[in-house]
Amino acid sequence: MTRSIDEITNGRRMRRNRRFEWNRRLVRENTLTTNDLIWPIFLIEGENRSEPVKSMPGVERFSVDRAVKAVKEAFDLGIPAIATFPDITFEKRDALGSEVLNPDGLINRATRAIKEAVPGIGIITDVALDPFTETGHDGILRDDIILNDETVEQLCKAAVIQAQAGADIISASEMMDGRIGAIRDALNEAGFTDTAILAYSAKYASAFYGPYREAVGTDKMLKGDKRTYFMDPANSDEALHEAALDVAEGADMLMVKPGMPYLDILRRIKDEFQMPTFVYQVSGEYSMIMAGVEKGFLDRERAMLESLMAFKRAGADGIFTYFAPEVAAILNGQKSPGSTMDH
Ligand code: PBG
Repeated sequence: MTRSIDEITNGRRMRRNRRFEWNRRLVRENTLTTNDLIWPIFLIEGENRSEPVKSMPGVERFSVDRAVKAVKEAFDLGIPAIATFPDITFEKRDALGSEVLNPDGLINRATRAIKEAVPGIGIITDVALDPFTETGHDGILRDDIILNDETVEQLCKAAVIQAQAGADIISASEMMDGRIGAIRDALNEAGFTDTAILAYSAKYASAFYGPYREAVGTDKMLKGDKRTYFMDPANSDEALHEAALDVAEGADMLMVKPGMPYLDILRRIKDEFQMPTFVYQVSGEYSMIMAGVEKGFLDRERAMLESLMAFKRAGADGIFTYFAPEVAAILNGQKSPGSTMDH
């Protein structure tokens, strides 16, 4: 070496701040807490029933009574909110996704039961039609086209019904144009001016939703793909336009989905709008980590926590994650490092 290291770095040795755990803690820029977690859960009909989602090791679908128990535990762990997704029987699915308008449908019954038993937890329900249509599409399909405006009408009605059942946040995960403003109007007209709207602003046409589609039973039904309404993974500026429209139309919070492959989008949206910004660690991300863990290639706890910290670093305020109860237990010190807990 012709120059010494101190000549090269001007005496700046970055490793000084990494020497001890106490000084790594002092200079840490981001923290993950239970306040960041949103737990998505899958619902099924029946009583005292749960069934495993095969492609998501450790994840189960719950009947409403079991969901209530699970949500109570989540609340006790400090998780601020849950999000529900139903797996209804195939006979109830039709072209228009009519079951989404049933005030006593699975989602709405779960909302009422959870509200009553666990009033302190936030409930997020979704108006997308995919669990209700016979095509597995998020909107109404006619002549090979997903109809935008007709779908939005359906979403507006669903939003009011979900708000009536007690949902605190209505989420729109189907990427139809104009739906945020239309849902805001519908909620306001029905007197739900305080019900919030979470816009899935940048939702990509992603391979990482595969396991979710098994969880809600759309895997075998889906004809074609969702590329005429979800975003092209190649685009980034377009996500900012989507988010700008959602903000202008009255969204209370924005979402980027999937998470890990789209950290750049998360950062851009957070920087541009400084809105509450959520990210969804989707089923495929969960299953990828779990598959690595099951094969012995990854350390479960470290992989899980690192994947969530990456979202905080990229600007997320809230994280939808199937790991939520396990992570909350770890963060609360209720779970010893390295142990395994299935939720
Ligand atoms: C559709 C919807 C999807 C997810 C939740 N709602 C995507 C899809 O099936 O196209 C994915 C969630 C996940 O993968 O965890 N409205």
